[in-house]
Amino acid sequence: MGSNSGPPSGKPKLAPFAEVHPFRLTEPPNARWKVGDGLSNTSLGKKWKNDEKQGWKTWEMAKTSPSDATQILNSTVIPRPIAFVSTLSTENSPNLAPFRYDLCLVSYNPPIISVSFRLAPRQPKNTRDNILATKEFVVNLISEPFIEAANETSVEAPANVSEWDVSGLTQESSVHVKPPRVKESAVSLECELFHSQDIFPDGIMVPSATLILGRVKYVHVRNSVLQPDGLRADPAKLRPTSRIGGQTYARLGEGFDLKRPEWSCVKQVLRAKL
Ligand SMILES: Cc1cc2nc3c(=O)[nH]c(=O)nc-3n(C[C@H](O)[C@H](O)[C@H](O)COP(=O)(O)O)c2cc1C
Repeated sequence: MGSNSGPPSGKPKLAPFAEVHPFRLTEPPNARWKVGDGLSNTSLGKKWKNDEKQGWKTWEMAKTSPSDATQILNSTVIPRPIAFVSTLSTENSPNLAPFRYDLCLVSYNPPIISVSFRLAPRQPKNTRDNILATKEFVVNLISEPFIEAANETSVEAPANVSEWDVSGLTQESSVHVKPPRVKESAVSLECELFHSQDIFPDGIMVPSATLILGRVKYVHVRNSVLQPDGLRADPAKLRPTSRIGGQTYARLGEGFDLKRPEWSCVKQVLRAKL
């Protein structure tokens, strides 16, 4: 649907996408917080405390259907960054799909990244199968300017259709692994399979998910998103996206710095209090 065609009837009208959306640093929620203070004594903290009166809803996961568990977990463990994983089949067919489960830095020495695949019965997950067969993949971070193209690559297309064609994005040769990287991505990580772990539902011999750990061999970052130190990416320029449950994507708007506490200072305050 084009941006001028308006929302389908019955749906609330959405604000237009704000292209100018600078990322800014603000003060932290409670700049006066002190060791041992717990919940902040701000209006936000007081409201949070007051909300306790509504109690908790608790699910025993063993008695919760997988579809309810998905809804609960997908909307609570957020935000989850998203990235395309680019792979080649053993016949060298290129494959591209977006993922957000377990997309995480596991270690930086050695650099290890994780991604996990949900498996439906009798439905292949080509990316997973390609990684297990070829031991190589590229993780490409997804930014706002190509989020629609990225979303489209999640289509369950027949095996003879390349998601690259669906997306209209550009293949760029990797330097170490065979699968290409996504040229439009500001960050691409060339990976070799480090470890894989199938995950099984209780009492069932067919895996419902596979966790993949990749050893990052090369990192490509667009110069235009780097900070002046030439090492760190600037979040305002990277324009990263994440998933926050359902079909909703989120973007970065604001951040705040909190200094890492030093034990020598914390110790003194605790001593004075006790
Ligand atoms: C934003 C987004 C994130 C996704 N994350 C995951 C994920 O973490 N794990 C997964 O198995 N599928 C995920 N999917 C669905 C896959 O992209 C989809 O099943 C795709 O068709 C898999 O392609 P493949 O079979 O070529 O690997 C996601 C889809 C979208 C749109």
